[in-house]
Amino acid sequence: MPAAIDPWGRNEVKDYGKIMADFGLKPFDEFAGAMPDAPTFMRRGGVFAHRDFGRIFDCVKGKKPFAMLTGLMPSGKFHLGHAMLAQQIIYYQQLGAKVFVTVADIEAYNVRKLPLAELRKIAIEEYILNYFALGLKPKGVDIYFQSERSIPYYRLIGMLSGKTTANEFKAIYGSDEPEKFISVAHQIADILHPQLPDYLGPIPLTVPVGIDQDPHIRYTRDITGRLPEFSFIPPSSTYHKFMKGLQGGKMSSSDPLSYIALTDAPEEAERKIMKHAFSGGRNNIAEHRRLGADLAVDVSYQYLLYLFEPDDAKMKKITDDYGSGKMLSGEVKQYLAEKVRKFLQGHQKKREKARNKLAAFSP
Ligand code: TRP
Repeated sequence: MPAAIDPWGRNEVKDYGKIMADFGLKPFDEFAGAMPDAPTFMRRGGVFAHRDFGRIFDCVKGKKPFAMLTGLMPSGKFHLGHAMLAQQIIYYQQLGAKVFVTVADIEAYNVRKLPLAELRKIAIEEYILNYFALGLKPKGVDIYFQSERSIPYYRLIGMLSGKTTANEFKAIYGSDEPEKFISVAHQIADILHPQLPDYLGPIPLTVPVGIDQDPHIRYTRDITGRLPEFSFIPPSSTYHKFMKGLQGGKMSSSDPLSYIALTDAPEEAERKIMKHAFSGGRNNIAEHRRLGADLAVDVSYQYLLYLFEPDDAKMKKITDDYGSGKMLSGEVKQYLAEKVRKFLQGHQKKREKARNKLAAFSP
């Protein structure tokens, strides 16, 4: 039986509600409005589900220490979908969490079959540099490569490998390829090792990820209980929706028309939006005025909602006007394109300035 979510597959999620019910995820609603100064998409439903997030929320409210860890698979260009995770990393740093970021180069080496040196370059130039440019502070953040972590981390991988079986692995992932098990063993160690005595010791820790990563989170939480000697606190997690591709399908690094990269020339990005953004507008103006736009499928609308129009009053006006047909598809695209162009102009300057923050990462 194939696994319902394949973290290495290209599955698009049609029904978030069904996934939540099938895997016992809780809705994030109760926290979305209560997290202080949260990023726009977190306030507006882009982060939609969680496991055990109450533990983290209590730390935020009570100003108690907690940690955050997430990871990236270096591949292709850093695009708006990646920026959504970056914003969360930065947000947790601002909240005072101890922040860990894993560069999953061993996973990428094993499942994407790229040389480590190339993966390292992509990780630094595309991901880490953009994180700093978006506002991550180098001070206090622990960004590491799986391929060169530490003895305690590798010891943990060795130890946890004996706490599962091939059958269990196969039941979760629908596969028993050794490189997949090794990749997952690294990821479990990524998530748990901040709680080793060599790092912070037991501490509430949250893992913000896309929903495709949930099999790893479930597996990690199960294995946590089989390593009682460390007194690990089961990790918490939150899940964000995938950002829609520009043309309505999935964002995919192999198709430049499906994403806006943070290194796209600002005018090029503007052009991509005007020409290719999938529209929820109707066939002709009369019909549009009568029915209003289909906001659920309109990509420009969603980019505004989740990233580019943080002002609630302005967003409400767009929702009302576009949803009722008063505003036209071209106008919404124009509005977004302008915002994106300005953002990229500013960001690309910041990106060059952030180069001096890369000192800790030899090429
Ligand atoms: N598997 C993740 C991905 O495909 C990368 C990753 C590795 C990760 N270790 C992690 C994510 C730990 C979250 C936590 O993107």
